[in-house]
Amino acid sequence: MPATADTHLDALVASISEARQATCTGITEPSSPQPLQSTLDTLAAVRGRGAFLPFIGTGQGWGPFVQCEDGSVKLDMVTGIGVHGFGHGDDTTLRIMLEAATQDTVMQGNLQCNADAVAFMSRLLEQACQGNSRLAHVFPCCSGAVANENALKVCMQKTGGAPRVLAFAHNFSGRTTTMSQISDSPGVRQGIALNLQVDYLPYEDPTDREGSLDRTMTALQQALSRYPGQHACVVLEPVQGEGGFNPATSAFLRPVLEAARAAGVPVLFDEVQTFGRTEQMFRQHVLGVEDLVDVLTVGKMSQVCATLYADDFNPAPGLLSGTFIGSTAGLRVGASFIERLASGGYYGSDGRIATLHEHFRTRGTAMMADLPAAFPEVAGAGGPIGLVGGCGGMMRLTPFGGDKAKVIELVKSCLDAGVLLFFCGHGPFHLRMLPPVGVLEQSHLDTAMDVIGNCIEAMVD
Ligand SMILES: Cc1ncc(COP(=O)(O)O)c(C=O)c1O
Repeated sequence: MPATADTHLDALVASISEARQATCTGITEPSSPQPLQSTLDTLAAVRGRGAFLPFIGTGQGWGPFVQCEDGSVKLDMVTGIGVHGFGHGDDTTLRIMLEAATQDTVMQGNLQCNADAVAFMSRLLEQACQGNSRLAHVFPCCSGAVANENALKVCMQKTGGAPRVLAFAHNFSGRTTTMSQISDSPGVRQGIALNLQVDYLPYEDPTDREGSLDRTMTALQQALSRYPGQHACVVLEPVQGEGGFNPATSAFLRPVLEAARAAGVPVLFDEVQTFGRTEQMFRQHVLGVEDLVDVLTVGKMSQVCATLYADDFNPAPGLLSGTFIGSTAGLRVGASFIERLASGGYYGSDGRIATLHEHFRTRGTAMMADLPAAFPEVAGAGGPIGLVGGCGGMMRLTPFGGDKAKVIELVKSCLDAGVLLFFCGHGPFHLRMLPPVGVLEQSHLDTAMDVIGNCIEAMVD
């Protein structure tokens, strides 16, 4: 019987996948760079600013390992700031991308989309709607900042154009003109005309949970009584990302969000960085506060970003649109990530992600005991235990008293030694990991922690 077009295509995809595996299987451990600057120099020239880390990928990698243009292989513990959840060279992803390459267009949009976009949206919504969630609709887009812009617009329309926003100190919402004003960091607002009024509330302080809840409730009541009916939403990250991997508890969030909603202020829950990474696919479910979430955003690990909202927040036509939803490959891979994450044993208190985090804490605590001179106590890091912090696949270490220059020096020396890391926080500064939780094994985490420990030790000597 002659092969159908589909089986022929399947056979071709399988043979490309095999050929590619053969080229990637050497990428299994960190190795040193060869001197090679050209693409980094070109990047600096064309962009007008050099790369923060001397990293240019070749487009090849294997699991958590990525190959660089200088010939080195790095253990990638940052994944493009939390994007490549299933690492590099993932075979399932490759096959989906090859199939996507046979489709008629590269990008899909709001005016005309294919079934891929509908499948992505349905899968995301199905997961987000679990428990007591009020979310009913989803609108995809191409960046986390735009997902937040859309979320803010939905909240503004719902509140009749309320001009103010409540946010938390050290928040990060992205870098559009408006999100730069909500993101609580001087650098992102530099030179931006401030046309949005933001009232900041203190985030939860893990060293004084009760006191911190009292302070936040007082600040909230003050803002609400000073500007009654003028807040479009309260914006929050359930684990602050750029601000330092600070997880809030439901004992803190529930009363704050209930009070905001009781005053008619909608809740905008930003899961752009937490999506997929903690002990459930959505942090709202880990905290059990999904009944209080009116609008929620995702990005990064979802591959395609999105704004989800309750039925009573569904905006009038014209408020949300845009040429692009995402690429066909992005939509298909995003849908497959959701499915794999949901069914792959990643979640729950003994799931893969929680187990990896526990291992990180064990190794981090041992490192602190081995290198006490490198881990002085730090105000604002959450006490001694806070020096090894974060949750799930958001892991942070706070050596050198959280000193910015030293933490950045450590990031650079770890990169030279083959491990790609980043930093977060506004002081104290932390060493930051957003590893590929979909494929990371404990042995990879051990390799990273060994390299980090050696580099810290070398800096202490
Ligand atoms: C919590 C949070 N919200 C929004 C954004 C903005 O996402 P993007 O960089 O895709 O615009 C980020 C990015 O780091 C983020 O961490």
